[in-house]
Amino acid sequence: MVGYAFMGAAHSQAWRTVNRVYDLPSRVRMALVCGRDTAKVAEAADRLGWDAYTTDWRRLVESDEIDVVDICTPGDSHAEIALAALAAGKHVLCEKPLANTVAEAREMAVAAAAAQAAGTRSMCGFTYRRVPAVTLMRQMVAEGRLGSIRHVRAAYLQDWIVDPQFPLVWRLQKDRAGSGALGDIGAHIIDMTQYVTGQRVAGVSAITETFVKQRPLPAEYSGLAAQAADNGPTDGQGPATGPVTVDDAAVFVARLDGGALATYEASRFATGRKNALRVEINGSLGTLAFDLERMNELEFYDATRPAAEQGFTRILVTEAEHPYMSAWWPPGHIIGYEHSFTHQARDFVEAIATGTDPAPSFTDGLQVQLVLDAVTRSAELGSSWTAVEPTLEAVPA
Ligand SMILES: NC(=O)c1ccc[n+]([C@@H]2O[C@H](COP(=O)([O-])OP(=O)(O)OC[C@H]3O[C@@H](n4cnc5c(N)ncnc54)[C@H](O)[C@@H]3O)[C@@H](O)[C@H]2O)c1
Repeated sequence: MVGYAFMGAAHSQAWRTVNRVYDLPSRVRMALVCGRDTAKVAEAADRLGWDAYTTDWRRLVESDEIDVVDICTPGDSHAEIALAALAAGKHVLCEKPLANTVAEAREMAVAAAAAQAAGTRSMCGFTYRRVPAVTLMRQMVAEGRLGSIRHVRAAYLQDWIVDPQFPLVWRLQKDRAGSGALGDIGAHIIDMTQYVTGQRVAGVSAITETFVKQRPLPAEYSGLAAQAADNGPTDGQGPATGPVTVDDAAVFVARLDGGALATYEASRFATGRKNALRVEINGSLGTLAFDLERMNELEFYDATRPAAEQGFTRILVTEAEHPYMSAWWPPGHIIGYEHSFTHQARDFVEAIATGTDPAPSFTDGLQVQLVLDAVTRSAELGSSWTAVEPTLEAVPA
């Protein structure tokens, strides 16, 4: 695994847990973790349960003992690591968004498709697909319980940079993160709504905004100090500042290729909303609604019921019949944020062991990247209607 911070910790928990919860054909050994700082990666290896550590990710790619490379770094290193790992015949799990640009994502998808022919598997980490209530949503839509989908309403709202003094971390730098709220959290709701509905975003009209354009440099970003000096003198008291080069919020309307109208909102300025991911789907026969803050529940309105009995039903998604749940606890004993990462690990290990293709593939990751790109271009062109470039032209099936 490369990177040991937020996602590194979540993925480590999943790798540690997966064989204890699910009966799988292969056992996971957590062989080698990579970070850039020797002392910190050594501490992380010990805390997270890795056998060994390194400061050079190439050691993972070169080692004969390693079958799977798990990429938990910022987007600026996804392509380089994934391409090297695939070329070395390693199965690759890569965090989302797949890359920082369409060009990188396309290269990765093409490499993954070629590697697939040789039995090498790859998957992009759109983890929310693996929340049981979200997987159930998809099943119910596919079974026709909602009829024809008319509306998709998705919002992913956070507030961690409302304070203008919050430092210029990598997520606020385009060259490191690719985009801001759009690629970080907007990518999740794009993937999730497409996954649930089976429809793809065909075109968009978007607005984006960077509310706070200049932020203090974090101490460790010494490489930016020279750049900050160009942005105006400091008084020697406060920290130097640097430019925010990504969006703070992105809002767009979309047409899905199955005929639905969709709205998307991704913001890091939704004061009070910490991690509010909400999706509602309205169909001709019913509605489904999901809220990550109540992630064990699904709201279902079944318009085929007798008029006198109609109303929203709360489904508690903890039955053994529900996706992923039979291996956990008795009904009503709820699960949390980290469990979806264990589900992701289960699905990836199972795909590798059984020689099947896991989803979302790198091609799926590319398709989301093409939507992100259309949103960015639309916003730059005064919200003009922008079609999403077809994916299949880019990657041969
Ligand atoms: N699936 C999800 O729900 C989800 C949630 C959060 C983040 N993410 C994605 O996960 C990725 C990582 O995000 P995060 O929140 O864990 O970031 P983070 O800042 O918490 O951690 C990044 C890690 O990468 C390491 N790193 C950076 N460059 C490196 C390099 N060149 N070589 C080795 N290590 C390097 C850092 O030292 C750190 O350990 C991003 O792509 C992000 O979009 C996904």
